[in-house]
Amino acid sequence: MDFNQEVRLATDQIYKKISKVMPEIEWAVHAPYIHKINKLKKEKNAVILAHNYQTPEIYHGIADFSADSLALAVEASKTSADIIIMAGVHFMAETAKLMSPNKKVLLPDMKAGCSLSSSITGKDVRLLKEKYPGVPVVSYVNTSADVKAETDVCCTSANAVKIVKSLRVKKVIFLPDDYLAKYVATQTDVEIISWKGICIVHDQFNENEINNIRKNNPGIKIIAHPECPPEVIKASDFAGSTSGMINYVKDNQPKKVMMVTECSMSDNIQVENPNVEFIRPCNMCPHMKKITLPKILDCLENETGEIIMDQETIDRARLSVEKMVAIGR
Ligand code: 13P
Ligand code: SF4
Repeated sequence: MDFNQEVRLATDQIYKKISKVMPEIEWAVHAPYIHKINKLKKEKNAVILAHNYQTPEIYHGIADFSADSLALAVEASKTSADIIIMAGVHFMAETAKLMSPNKKVLLPDMKAGCSLSSSITGKDVRLLKEKYPGVPVVSYVNTSADVKAETDVCCTSANAVKIVKSLRVKKVIFLPDDYLAKYVATQTDVEIISWKGICIVHDQFNENEINNIRKNNPGIKIIAHPECPPEVIKASDFAGSTSGMINYVKDNQPKKVMMVTECSMSDNIQVENPNVEFIRPCNMCPHMKKITLPKILDCLENETGEIIMDQETIDRARLSVEKMVAIGR
């Protein structure tokens, strides 16, 4: 694909926006795809929903809506597009399908999974419910539709505490992120039965790393995702969902910040926060990084990677997501 004059003119404004985080030589590779995808999505009445961990050329170049997993689920329920392309991972595409069952939902790479989602099955949840009869099940949205179908109410990192409190019970089964479960336990009086799932990205951060960064960067604000180990969250100034972290930076404009999360977050928001210096040891999500512009173009052109689920699973799993959305952020 050529980086010709037509492409250059059509994409120039986007490049101006992200030139601080992308060298021109890299842009020449992305721009033809961006131009073609943006034209084709209009022709096909498709919408591209992107998670905050997508790379800048996706986040700023082609996404119609970029957000955390809660807002993506809500947006999927509202869109009037015929096709939803999820620039994210499999559970996010499934959740979009649950919220818009009559739409065509496409995922550009079916292997874009999630270590949390793959740590538990619907059968595991059924066994837990037998072991703890009557105890409500709260599942992180990072789960398969089969798990959601066995769940009373879903949550994301943006509303986990609020959802657990809303149940007004003494005990909940909280799945599958053990660290998020521990975080919720610190914020409520509810007894939490957890599962040993972890996020392979956030599990790599440790307390020493955080303390060293703070020592070497006086005044720095350190903000962490709640999927991090508890001691990392404790050593940080703030914990919140990906959008919560973005809003923290926008609202507080710290001189220096470290986002204890996936690498693309700092790149994406550097663009709108030019006066903030981002200090980055960060970790890459190998699943999120499976989504690329060439795969998105292929998926849009050929309508491949469709999310198909049986009606019973859709009906059961949707209830748990709808309950979460009704409770909100
Ligand atoms: P958010 O809900 O905060 O966007 O997080 C989703 C996720 O997968 C983080 O690792
Ligand atoms: Fe899953 Fe972690 Fe990747 Fe998020 S960052 S998609 S929780 S593996």
